[in-house]
Amino acid sequence: MVSIPIALEGQRHEVIVGAGASSEAPALAAGRDRVAILADRRVAALHGPLIDGASTLEVDAGEPLKSMDGLAQVLDFCAAAGLSRGSLLVAYGGGTVGDLGGLAASLFKRGLDVLQVPTTLLAQVDASVGGKTAINLPAGKNLAGSFHQPAGVLCDTALLATLSDAEFSSGLGEVIKTSIIGGEAALGQTEELMGSLIERDPRALTAVVEACVRVKAQVVVSDPEERGPRRALNLGHTFAHAIESAAGYGAVPHGVAVGVGLGLAARAAEATCGAPSELTERTVLLLERAGLPSSLGALRGVYGLEERLTPAALRAGLAHDKKGAVGAPEFVLARGAGDVIMGQPLDEDLLAELLA
Ligand code: GLY
Repeated sequence: MVSIPIALEGQRHEVIVGAGASSEAPALAAGRDRVAILADRRVAALHGPLIDGASTLEVDAGEPLKSMDGLAQVLDFCAAAGLSRGSLLVAYGGGTVGDLGGLAASLFKRGLDVLQVPTTLLAQVDASVGGKTAINLPAGKNLAGSFHQPAGVLCDTALLATLSDAEFSSGLGEVIKTSIIGGEAALGQTEELMGSLIERDPRALTAVVEACVRVKAQVVVSDPEERGPRRALNLGHTFAHAIESAAGYGAVPHGVAVGVGLGLAARAAEATCGAPSELTERTVLLLERAGLPSSLGALRGVYGLEERLTPAALRAGLAHDKKGAVGAPEFVLARGAGDVIMGQPLDEDLLAELLA
């Protein structure tokens, strides 16, 4: 197991990566006056309770969980469990459980420590690291949230063995994104290990999760509250959010939408910023090897959402992306591995071509 420190002004914690990392949870909870667990019901059934004797709220993971009702349920659970500001809330599940648990922890009694134990590939390489928390509003995804750095993150790669193939591939979308942002060494490693990753080889999983956490940790430390450089982590995400919004939230898994977003961002970077076609080819090949669509055409074919993923609906979804200025979508594009530019507008002709 490896431990990756994240040191921010006024806060320091470790991300522990490796097979068996979740067995560190009882030690991290020791000394707290109370411990409560927000757990994905399926994960708890497959992998056990994490910490014996802790009050546990089991929930059904998924985007509908990230609602006002879901938040109220978790806050009521914290109150019923008698948590104080010296207690610990553990979020044990994928990204939706981590986002909701993190937000509840940031609100309960004005701030309670949260231990993130992410159980999906997507949550281990992205969502659990960096302190973003959120629920969705009817107006859009992740529109109500906070930055609340966790007390620790345990990325137990052994837990990834029970993910469905679809959920695992979705996580590979974020792996590919982070590898491009990380630079040639990270991208080269993901290319080298993709075959073993798909086989869920334990060593490949740990190496790649570790590499992604290191890339993300470096970016987060430079800009914890996303005022500048952290926006690089949104590579492919302006397109991805438009896809998720046009398809209806939950219809296309986030990492799948990110994969298509990476393919579109690569083509946009080639057309506007002099990015080499080789980077587009490498991106598309990695997505294909991961079992992910790299174009809207392929996505429409796989998900049968032709009526929803129309160019007009996607263009409207771009206008609503919360990271861009109102009505003028901005994009994060890679000119090369590790060379990411932010805040790029794209002209309407190019957008029309990309969204066709
Ligand atoms: N998922 C992007 C970020 O944490 O900033």
